[in-house]
Amino acid sequence: MRKIWMDCDTGFDDLVCIALLGHSSEVDIVGISTVVGNTSLDWTTSNTLSAVENFGFDIPVYRGCAKPLAQEPCTIEGLLGAGGMGTINRPLPAPAKRTPEQENAVSALIRTLEETEEPLTILATGPMTNLAVVAILRPDLMEKIAEVVFMGGSYGFGNHTTAAEFNTFADPEALDTVIRAGIPLKMFGLNLTNQVQITPEHADQIRAVGSEFAEVVADLLEKYLRIRDPEKSQPMALHDPSAAAYLLWPELFELQEGILSVELHGTKARGATFCEFRPKRIDTPNAKIAMRAKGDDVANRVVSQVIDALKAVQ
Ligand code: BDR
Ligand code: CA
Repeated sequence: MRKIWMDCDTGFDDLVCIALLGHSSEVDIVGISTVVGNTSLDWTTSNTLSAVENFGFDIPVYRGCAKPLAQEPCTIEGLLGAGGMGTINRPLPAPAKRTPEQENAVSALIRTLEETEEPLTILATGPMTNLAVVAILRPDLMEKIAEVVFMGGSYGFGNHTTAAEFNTFADPEALDTVIRAGIPLKMFGLNLTNQVQITPEHADQIRAVGSEFAEVVADLLEKYLRIRDPEKSQPMALHDPSAAAYLLWPELFELQEGILSVELHGTKARGATFCEFRPKRIDTPNAKIAMRAKGDDVANRVVSQVIDALKAVQ
């Protein structure tokens, strides 16, 4: 089983990744680190613990960085709802039993890399602050990372600003640090995740499971589907789970080698990512960029796995 470390800023779509991979028998999640992003570190940690607890997983959760490397946090509760986990009715319950590990996320990831015999795959679905700090502290351990598969950036327009996707806008220096660390990188940006849409019908399928927690997840999804229009649910890009789905079903995606960079200095384009594909300019590619997905298949498989995970805890 492939060993995975998850690094996330748990809002709704990060929670779906936890359900998806936690329930899979193909991967072994050895730890989850939290980071400030969608919401404060306290909330991303509480949301993560609640997801792990309510899906009945036995995965340690570590608190990570409460601030980005070179700016103040820019959380988006205004868009996502209270605690970064808005709902149309039932809220995600606070964790009743689970607490974060004593060890902080950076130390825990360093220790895990030191101890691991097989290289670790990292799935990053929030700002990359924790990984950047590990890369700065322990460059010698980068060879223990098989790859970093991340949701962030875009080969095209942004969502937080015209130019920048939220995770890269929230800590551009962190992504830049990780790029320069020389780790194999696979980027699942907005150009890809916009091809994978979760719909109101998926919310109905989840609700039909019939358990109290399935009702909660359906209510959270309904709120997610109203991010663009609070009055009406409509199909919405399934951002983080697209990157997670690649770890289970790579055959549903096409990636292209290129040179990835991130804008650090622009006044309008800070946090924007650039993907260079021109053959004469990419002697030494530093990333694989996800370009195409069988979007309906990805969304349907993700939802079906979430339903299975919900049934398993009924
Ligand atoms: C990314 O930003 C966050 O709001 C989501 O969780 C996802 O990681 C999409 O731009
Ligand atoms: Ca996220």
